[in-house]
Amino acid sequence: MMQRRPIIGGNWKMNTNLETGMALASQVADAASTAKGCDVVIYPPFPALQAIDSVISSSPVTLGAQNFWPEDCGAFTGEVSCEMLTDLCVTSLLIGHSERRHVLHESDVLIAKKVDFAIRMDFQVVLCVGETLVQREAGNTLEIVLGQVQSGLESVKHDSMKNIVIAYEPVWAIGTGKTASAEDAQAVHSAIRQELASRYDDDVASSTRIQYGGSVKPDNAKELFACSDIDGALVGGAALSGESFAAIIEAAC
Ligand code: PGA
Repeated sequence: MMQRRPIIGGNWKMNTNLETGMALASQVADAASTAKGCDVVIYPPFPALQAIDSVISSSPVTLGAQNFWPEDCGAFTGEVSCEMLTDLCVTSLLIGHSERRHVLHESDVLIAKKVDFAIRMDFQVVLCVGETLVQREAGNTLEIVLGQVQSGLESVKHDSMKNIVIAYEPVWAIGTGKTASAEDAQAVHSAIRQELASRYDDDVASSTRIQYGGSVKPDNAKELFACSDIDGALVGGAALSGESFAAIIEAAC
């Protein structure tokens, strides 16, 4: 079986200030320097990106952004372009996170446009997908999740799949303390991998990393990472503590 390198992302959302963010980034840099077996990416808020890059630049941690607008430049008040993020050494972008889908009402069409734009600008894209509780209880998990995968990857060609990571994050598990059981998460990850095999081929299916996200903590990380189709985690709440995030990194490496 193909060995995929786990990837652990820390999505800080709208948390931290310059001082606490820099201190947290320094703890993450220390943790990643001793954990050689996985990739570590952090997604701080925009205003801290430049300062945080200076903290992590000589460590293995890479810098990501939580959002961007898929146009080169122009009259888009309040938005940030890919070129601006490249200037700040950002190499990874979150797209389709459940808070952007459900709180900020981003559509599948906008998400597909963002994926296409970011791939053309040479970023790593973390495409987040996941069902709500109502959808899960109605038995529609796979239909929703695979539909989001299909529409998010609409324009992505075989050769660009090396720059795609998929994050399966059941909406009902994000920030709630509820985690999908390792068995339930594995079943969805495996279905996503089958979808990649039929959409692309077995090479893409076996080499694409699929992270799990939704209340990942040091005490459930090991069990999730032991599943054959789970290649790391996208972490929110537990990424705001250097100690917890370091323990999750250690569990993956
Ligand atoms: P959580 O967030 O770990 O706090 O559930 C995960 C995410 O939103 O990516």
